[in-house]
Amino acid sequence: MDRSDKPRVVLGVSGGIAAYKACELLRRLTESGHDVRVVPTGSALRFVGEPTWAALSGNPVTTGVWENVHEVPHVRIGQEADLVVVAPATADTLARAARGIADDLLTNTLLTARCPVVFAPAMHTEMWEHPATAENVATLRRRGAVVVEPAVGRLTGKDTGKGRLPDPGEIFEVCRRLLARGAAPGRDLAGRHVVVSAGGTREPLDPVRFLGNRSSGRQGYALARTAVARGARVTLVAANTSLPDPAGADVVTVGTAVQLREAVLKAAKDADAVVMAAAVADFRPAHYAQGKIKKREGRQPEPVALVRNPDVLAELSAARPRPGQVVVGFAAETDDVLANGRAKLARKGCDLLVVNEVGEDRTFGAEENEAVVLGADGSEASVPHGPKEALADTVWDKVVRMLNAG
Ligand code: CTP
Repeated sequence: MDRSDKPRVVLGVSGGIAAYKACELLRRLTESGHDVRVVPTGSALRFVGEPTWAALSGNPVTTGVWENVHEVPHVRIGQEADLVVVAPATADTLARAARGIADDLLTNTLLTARCPVVFAPAMHTEMWEHPATAENVATLRRRGAVVVEPAVGRLTGKDTGKGRLPDPGEIFEVCRRLLARGAAPGRDLAGRHVVVSAGGTREPLDPVRFLGNRSSGRQGYALARTAVARGARVTLVAANTSLPDPAGADVVTVGTAVQLREAVLKAAKDADAVVMAAAVADFRPAHYAQGKIKKREGRQPEPVALVRNPDVLAELSAARPRPGQVVVGFAAETDDVLANGRAKLARKGCDLLVVNEVGEDRTFGAEENEAVVLGADGSEASVPHGPKEALADTVWDKVVRMLNAG
């Protein structure tokens, strides 16, 4: 692909220790066919030098507005961009962007860009929580920028808290989604709170064993990621997944069906929509052995007695914690997929049911998926084989329509 055909991304880097993680984001963007122009601030260059950005991007790197003035870079770079992503975005850069200050190339670029703009903040918890930063973030979001929530974890030095730069791979996914949705991304979930459950529950038998399932959590994570890109506040209730936290989602980790129920019902209290993508175990062992169950020579093993777990989807559908809340279920079927799906939709009482056919090597853990989305109103939409994000966007399209109609 010729450089001119590639989507143009401006990677703004501001002066925080997380600047080194932007190298990984840059690498992912260039390797996936984007023409990336890195625009660091003067402070960013104290953390990672110009040769690194130039070598990794294959493009010239400038910080001020006084170099190559004949090319009018302070206007052109922003105008020609398909996406601007600032990672890390410091408290100072957020403040300058919110006020419309233009004292370096990056802030000039932010003023001239008419494409989607993403900020991935990274700073100490106190700075992130300061009312000045909170107001600047609210201002930027109101104007249509995507400001991803910082992650919680180890900060510079020994302290931990909210303020870490999200995983570069996850920032990359946010960028990819925004680019795929075009220059005017639908922020049609802005102001909405959505809850997504993902993964598979594990029901312990003894301290070392559990009854579980093969769900990877990928579909739920794709739902969370796409909802963030569409502007929603997202609570992701994750059961036994090993995927990086989607940038911008609040992640609550759980183990068993009972824990998942508690977390989902709590988050659902003020949610506009709940999507139950998790594979929740229908049964759990009736007895939990405090010590490891031992094999006893010459004797048959004890049968494992099971009891029913609560059905979270049916419970939510029957007693919506918030009026007008949209509830979506998933069904994994091996035979008679559509007939079983219709019956399950009626039995569970949800608004939408995403039905996919599963088998030994289908759907579980795969990057791609195909499904039929059944509506309680009798509608039926087939989603062809494709990325799990495409199915996720189809689900959100339908949820948005229902929320706007209600
Ligand atoms: N689900 C739930 N709580 C359970 C079991 C399932 O909330 N205890 C939700 C899942 O998250 C999913 C949907 O219900 O959204 C479908 O689950 P599935 O196990 O396929 O349906 P079942 O009613 O258990 O039907 P089956 O007889 O096929 O197992």
